Amino acid sequence: MITVFETPRLIGRQFTEDDASLILLLNSDPEVVKYLHEPILESAGQAQEILLNIILPQYEKRLGRWAVHTKTDSRFIGWCGLKYRPELDEIDLGFRFLRSEWGKGYATESALETLNYGFQTLDLKLITGRAHIDNTASNRVLQKIGMVYQSEGIVDDCPVKTYHLANPAH
Ligand SMILES: CC(C)(COP(=O)(O)OP(=O)(O)OC[C@H]1O[C@@H](n2cnc3c(N)ncnc32)[C@H](O)[C@@H]1OP(=O)(O)O)[C@@H](O)C(=O)NCCC(=O)NCCS
Repeated sequence: MITVFETPRLIGRQFTEDDASLILLLNSDPEVVKYLHEPILESAGQAQEILLNIILPQYEKRLGRWAVHTKTDSRFIGWCGLKYRPELDEIDLGFRFLRSEWGKGYATESALETLNYGFQTLDLKLITGRAHIDNTASNRVLQKIGMVYQSEGIVDDCPVKTYHLANPAH
C-alpha cells in the first residue's frame, strides 16, 4: 500500500487497479454525484475505466485522488486529492465521500492535509477549489479550510464558485 497522507483519524493512500468496486460504490449513489458533472455509474467496468484512464495516470505527477480510510477500522470512506487539469492549467482540490460518512468532518480533515501535502511536499504555487453553487457542504468545506473565494461562473457547463489558495511559503 502506498500511503500519501495521515491525519489524526484518516489515512490517504493511492488507489490501485483492484479498487474498481470502491469507485463503483461511491459513484453509483445519485446523491453523491448530484452536483458533479459525471454520470451515475452502473457497472464495475465503468469504474475500472475511470481508475485506469483518469485516477491512476495522475500518480505519475505525484498528484491524484487518494483513497481515504479510517484508522480505527480501515474502512473505505471516499477520496480526497489533487488533480491537474491541463485544459485550465490548474491543480484542482477535490473530495468525495460515501453518504454514510458525511457530516463527520472527514472532508475537512483530509482536505487540510491534502493542501499541506500540495504546498509542503510538492511545492505547488496555487491550488484551486470549485463547487456547484448549490453544493452547500462542498462550499462550506472549501471555506473552512481557508480557501479564498474568487468568482462565480460556468465551468464544465455547471454554475460553480471558484476558490484559490496560494502557497504561504512563496
Ligand atoms: C461535500 C462533501 C465531501 C462534504 O463531506 P463531509 O465529510 O460531510 O464534510 P465535513 O463534515 O468536513 O464538513 C461539511 C460542512 O458543511 C456543512 N453542511 C453540510 N450540508 C449542509 C447544508 N445542507 N446546509 C448547510 N451546511 C451544510 C456541515 O455542517 C459542515 O460544516 P460545519 O463543520 O461548519 O458544521 C460530501 O458531502 C460529499 O461527498 N458530497 C458528494 C460529492 C461532492 O459533492 N464533492 C464535492 C465536489 S466539489
